[in-house]
Amino acid sequence: MFDIFKSGLTPGFFQGACDMHSHLLPGVDDGFPTAEKTLEALRFLNHHGVKAVKMTPHFMKDYAENTRAHIEQRFKAFVGENASAIPLSLSLGGEYMIDSCFPERFEEGFFTLDKENTLVLCETSYMMAEPRMKDMLYDVMLKGYQPVIAHPERYQYASKSVYQRWKQKDYLFQLNLLSLAGAYGGLAKTKAHQMLKEGMYDFVGSDLHRLTNLEKMVSSIRLSKKEMDHLQKLLENNKTL
Ligand SMILES: [Fe+2]
Repeated sequence: MFDIFKSGLTPGFFQGACDMHSHLLPGVDDGFPTAEKTLEALRFLNHHGVKAVKMTPHFMKDYAENTRAHIEQRFKAFVGENASAIPLSLSLGGEYMIDSCFPERFEEGFFTLDKENTLVLCETSYMMAEPRMKDMLYDVMLKGYQPVIAHPERYQYASKSVYQRWKQKDYLFQLNLLSLAGAYGGLAKTKAHQMLKEGMYDFVGSDLHRLTNLEKMVSSIRLSKKEMDHLQKLLENNKTL
């Protein structure tokens, strides 16, 4: 086992990469509740080598008020009110649940992850994928977007053949770092290690909702040399965002 994590989440761990999945935009979903808590987390991430953060609030029917215009206005307000206290580069993305609201969000335009404006972070429910997922993502790809599937390891319904089918469709995969620590249960942990070993991921994100236990969880991660090599590649990919 590789022991890079033995001493915990070391300063510089993220090596200048972008954290491309976070719920740091305060007060809009189940993530950070206040600007103060968000600023504390941004300072923490920056201390550990994160140079850029994508705020990716939930767009889903449970947060139907999160339209493009509403989130953009909240983001501008947060940045405007806290500009001098923000220690890194901040930009807006989104985590789009593939549900009945998805076509509406598509219609008004996605917040993407990359400078080329193509990568869209998408998620499904943990228990079951939306039956029209394939068709919905097909339409999205016809418009030049490329789906990035958030934390595929967390989908309980997904077997190896599902992941292979998604890969064949050119969907990219984003690992949740804390899945490797078991933060989402044993099955997600096993899948995360397996998929990391097999080189199936394209990006890594924190999916940060709160700071509690983050350091402790990361410290508990143990990786093989092969897994560590793949994780390094993901961090390199994150630097391109
Ligand atoms: Fe998320």
